[in-house]
Amino acid sequence: MLHEYVASPGLNASRSAKGQGSHVYFLQYCFIVSNLDIMLPMSGPSMPANAKLALRAQINKAFTPSAPINNSDLFAGRNRQIDRVLQAIFQRGQHAIIFGERGVGKTSLANIIYDLLVLSGKHEIQVAKYTCGASAEFAGIWRSIFKQITITRQDEEQLTLDAMLPDSVGSEDIRETFQSADSPTIIVIDEVDRIAATETAILLADTVKTLSDNSVNATLVLVGVADSVDQLISEHQSIERALIQIHMPRMSQDELGQIVDKGLASTQITISDQLKSRIARLSQGLPSCTHLLARHAALAAVDRDSYEITEGDLSRAIREAVMNQQQTIINAYEKATHSPRENLYKQVLLSSALAQTNELGYFAAVDVRPAMQQVTGKEYDIPAFSQHLNDFCEDSRGPILQKKGERRRFRFRFINPLMQQFVVLKGLADGMISEEQISGAGSSENSPHSEQS
Ligand SMILES: Nc1ncnc2c1ncn2[C@@H]1O[C@H](COP(=O)(O)OP(=O)(O)OP(=O)(O)O)[C@@H](O)[C@H]1O
Ligand SMILES: [Mg+2]
Repeated sequence: MLHEYVASPGLNASRSAKGQGSHVYFLQYCFIVSNLDIMLPMSGPSMPANAKLALRAQINKAFTPSAPINNSDLFAGRNRQIDRVLQAIFQRGQHAIIFGERGVGKTSLANIIYDLLVLSGKHEIQVAKYTCGASAEFAGIWRSIFKQITITRQDEEQLTLDAMLPDSVGSEDIRETFQSADSPTIIVIDEVDRIAATETAILLADTVKTLSDNSVNATLVLVGVADSVDQLISEHQSIERALIQIHMPRMSQDELGQIVDKGLASTQITISDQLKSRIARLSQGLPSCTHLLARHAALAAVDRDSYEITEGDLSRAIREAVMNQQQTIINAYEKATHSPRENLYKQVLLSSALAQTNELGYFAAVDVRPAMQQVTGKEYDIPAFSQHLNDFCEDSRGPILQKKGERRRFRFRFINPLMQQFVVLKGLADGMISEEQISGAGSSENSPHSEQS
């Protein structure tokens, strides 16, 4: 019961400084935290059952491997990207597109914009959010967005901006509607890459253009995977100047370490710097992996009636993370690697997961070679495993990787970074590779990818 309550969604998708959502959230939060504090003993040889329950609830609230961050207290790092989002917000005529691999933290960054604005004293700005699905169409997107923005008429009556939209909606109607708003607004449109209709993408690009040209006091923050920038700009070359392009690389080890610190801060559980670095290294720049390992390790400590995470807890966390993986990932792994005969599929897949990549997650066959040596202890030439890489791109064993480029210069990427994360943890849990070998297999020491904006 307590667990369910604590795990309830934090902030609403859209929040307005004028709305009630943040107050409700804040009161809920105070209630939970004050009650948990009463229940937690500061020290003691073994934990009472209710304290354990409370601690588990806090751990589950702090570490959310499958949900974006909604609370700036738990948000780690990303200072450079935050600066650039604020730059777009405070410069009239500028808008932003946040892009990067799946799972690197794009939605989390967009979610904390409101908190950042409140912290910088900008209480009057309203924020609205829309997450696109494949069927998203232009008018529907904007009706839903304008429903979240309120204006106060001269007679003090409040209404939402969607009331101002005509039946058939074009980009100029969006501009005019914004011009009737009485406070600055920020509109976050997430998963723009899922918009299937070209017409909607063109109208969205037109909207960026007209809002920018007319210096409207509204900022669009578009969020999508890496290819969305090209997709959007190809619809309208001239919006390039109006859009600040914010690349989200994978997180550095320092940032991943901060995730562990921030999450544990509310739980009284401690971890040594050495174990924290191990979690960061194993995560390969993917914050969801850090959440997953830190959560299981902290829960393992609580199971032992301890407030301190040990090596044994981390080993258990790795096994738990593999065992509790989504069935779709486990099935895809089995499909990719099964064979009645002795073969190299498992080793090639693990080496691919460990290969050094560029900032968009792509690697070449040559990048797989050093990892193959770490995994198998033998030297392999590229032809010995290039067919395996190709097979992972086909239906027969996947597709688990995507391929681009030309023959001899192919680049590969895990379609789902969660699969990459699983392959590495499974390799560890099955004893195919050690943590020390992982550090030497492909990725560089601090940041797995060069920072690029
Ligand atoms: N700055 C951060 N601090 C702490 N945790 C983070 C941060 N960024 C992301 N996370 C965590 O990483 C995971 C992925 O984050 P998020 O959903 O924001 O990524 P995304 O890039 O939007 O993913 P997708 O491409 O699937 O939409 C979540 O568990 C989230 O809580
Ligand atoms: Mg997202």
